[in-house]
This record gives sequence, structure tokens and C-alpha cells, in this order.
Amino acid sequence: MSKFEIKILTPENWELYKLARLNSLRESPDSFGSTHDQEAVLSDSEWQSRLDLKLRDIDALPLVAEMDGQPVGIAWGFIHKPNLQVAHIYQMWISPEFRGKGIAKSLLLKIQAWAIARGCGLMALAVTTSNEAAVNLYRTFGFVAAGPLEELRVDSPLLVQPMVIELNSAA
Ligand SMILES: CC(C)(COP(=O)(O)OP(=O)(O)OC[C@H]1O[C@@H](n2cnc3c(N)ncnc32)[C@H](O)[C@@H]1OP(=O)(O)O)[C@@H](O)C(=O)NCCC(=O)NCCS
Repeated sequence: MSKFEIKILTPENWELYKLARLNSLRESPDSFGSTHDQEAVLSDSEWQSRLDLKLRDIDALPLVAEMDGQPVGIAWGFIHKPNLQVAHIYQMWISPEFRGKGIAKSLLLKIQAWAIARGCGLMALAVTTSNEAAVNLYRTFGFVAAGPLEELRVDSPLLVQPMVIELNSAA
């Protein structure tokens, strides 16, 4: 089987991103604060401008993992102003048939290297407590629980655990 490749998403590949993101929301509705219904109504130009980091004046790293040119996973690193110390991880998803091959770990490593290069001291995320695969992924990577459980979204009984990992930016 071919090896996967990780690439940075740009506005030119918005269709690839839209496909993967909508698939993720449909396939793993309990993993994300947003829903398929909320994002399926976005216009093509909204999908495109999400990836236009200059236009949005944001510092982010939107990644896609590809296998034979097909998107098989996504994840974002995101630094919210004004707290430039923390890189957040969002939208992590691997297509079911490509799980267990180290793709999520590779995406995390890319985001970690980017966050360190940006001088961040911490990476942060929130994971649904019942999502054993994701909790295990983040724990084995070195994330630890940080703070009380929060609601996944207002209409859901599911809870998310905030987790963080310290970065040694001098490394
Ligand atoms: C969680 C998820 C991203 C893992 O992706 P993946 O590419 O299969 O993960 P990797 O192959 O890189 O696994 C890395 C480590 O994570 C842990 N892990 C991954 N899948 C696991 C599973 N099903 N059960 C237990 N641990 C698991 C293991 O520690 C693994 O290391 P190992 O293979 O050396 O044992 C994937 O299952 C997924 O997309 N789930 C649905 C969406 C989701 O939950 N996103 C997270 C939102 S916070």
C-alpha cells in the first residue's frame, strides 16, 4: 500500500477540504463541537475563505493527509490572538479505513513542530470523554487533562475533556 503524504491546505484545494471535513462531521458526529448540518450549508466561497489565512488574518496550519491523491485525514493547528503561547488542535479526523496507520500521530507531530517554531509553550485541545481512540491517541502523545469537563455542544449530553501538552520551544 502507498505511503500517506501530509500537505498544507490552501484556498486552491478547498474542495478537497470540504469533502474531508463534511465526511468527518457525518462519520464522527460525537467528536466535534460543530455539526454536519451547520457546515453543509456553507457556500463554496466560505469553504475557500476558511483556508485563506491572510484574508482572515489568522495564524493556522490546516493539514490534509493524502493517500494516492485522495484526502484520508485532516487536522488544524490554530493560534488565537492575543494568546500566542497556545497552539490549539481542531478538526482531527482520519477516514475509518486508514486508521491505525500512524496518520493522526504524524499530523500531531507536524502541528507540534509548527507550534514550536512559532514559539508556543503549549498545545491544547478538547476530546470527547467517551472517545477511547482519541483519548488514547492524545495520552500516548503526552497530553494531560487540564481543567474541568465541558459540554460538547448545547444540545448534547456528551462531555469533552480539555487536554494540554507543554512544548519546549527551545528544542
Ligand atoms: C482518533 C483518531 C484521529 C486516531 O487516528 P489514527 O490515524 O487511527 O491514529 P494513529 O494510527 O496515529 O494512532 C496513534 C496512537 O493513538 C492510539 N490509538 C489510535 N486508535 C486507537 C484505538 N482505536 N484504540 C486505542 N488507541 C488508539 C494508540 O496509542 C496509537 O498508537 P499505537 O498505534 O502505537 O498503539 C481516529 O480514530 C479518528 O479519526 N476518529 C474519529 C474522529 C475523532 O475522534 N477525532 C478526534 C477529535 S478530538
